[in-house]
Amino acid sequence: MAILVLGGAGYIGSHTVFELIEAGRDVVVADNLVTGFRAAVHPKARFYQADIRSHEQMDALFEKEPIDGVIHFAAFSQVGESMANPLKYYENNLWGTTALLQSMVAHGVDKIVFSSTAATYGEPERIPILETDQTRPTNCYGETKLAMEREMSWTERAHGLRYVALRYFNACGAHRSGRIGEAHDPETHLIPLILQVPNGKREKISVFGGDYPTKDGTCVRDYIHVSDLAQAHILAMDYLMDGGKSDVFNLGNGVGFTVKEVIDVARKVTGHPIPAELCPRRAGDPAQLVASSEKAKQILGWKPNYADLETIVASAWNWHKAHPNGFGENV
Ligand code: UFG
Repeated sequence: MAILVLGGAGYIGSHTVFELIEAGRDVVVADNLVTGFRAAVHPKARFYQADIRSHEQMDALFEKEPIDGVIHFAAFSQVGESMANPLKYYENNLWGTTALLQSMVAHGVDKIVFSSTAATYGEPERIPILETDQTRPTNCYGETKLAMEREMSWTERAHGLRYVALRYFNACGAHRSGRIGEAHDPETHLIPLILQVPNGKREKISVFGGDYPTKDGTCVRDYIHVSDLAQAHILAMDYLMDGGKSDVFNLGNGVGFTVKEVIDVARKVTGHPIPAELCPRRAGDPAQLVASSEKAKQILGWKPNYADLETIVASAWNWHKAHPNGFGENV
């Protein structure tokens, strides 16, 4: 039986495919290559260029391949873009998931692990954030992810499909092989933007806001290595295959770093001075987001292997310095 990875050419999806293949699993990847890269797909995975919104394409895939469970990453994920173009997010993230669930139900595929986000919480009530804390998204991206979670829950009631929603905090780093890493176009994430400076692609890094109520005035985030996230998806799929009940889990390291601290770590790792410029706040940024991942540790048996920020940034730098242009064309 095979695992179908939707969005397996994207950043977190491609890393999960690598971990699945290395664990000896049979893997099928579907990706429409709108934001993903064909070059990021592990050569041992069977690749389909397909869109989750197409019943025709997804039905054909479910008929051809012996799919036992689905890991679903196929979504847009830029907070700023979701505010400027919310309907693009509803159309892809929510309608795409609806069409996917219809195909899964029609073909009797009843297990799904999917990407949710810390953005489902909005401004946190407390730090660290627990899964039971209030969810009040402050952006459309988080709203669509929360709606996906709710949609899964109603689908379970009616059709018996079980799901695990994984609420990621700040994914970063790159695969230990150096073969795949983080590439977005346009890039908006802090660590790849910082590393563009030593790579000669950017003169300085902008620090968005220096007046937050944090220890140095800059935002605090919980940075979690992409390979640790990937392992959590495998554990979650095994949990569902063993009969586990539908659930929601946070995934983070439980330690917060300020933007200035991340820049300092990157200076140490790269040996480059990395000039930084203080800029106004970016709209919609909560001051602090730090996860409690105790539930994932207890129920899924998850344990991050890259808990140290220096190791995480070093793995990102290992990929970025060898691939200053990312994957190049997304063909
Ligand atoms: N930042 C800068 N300068 C930059 C880029 C980012 O100072 O050039 C700051 C941001 O203001 C933020 C921190 O660095 O305080 C991290 O920003 P990222 O854009 O890397 O990540 P976010 O925390 O905004 O977003 C992440 C995920 C989203 C998810 C969100 C949950 O990338 O998918 O967490 O709030 F929705």
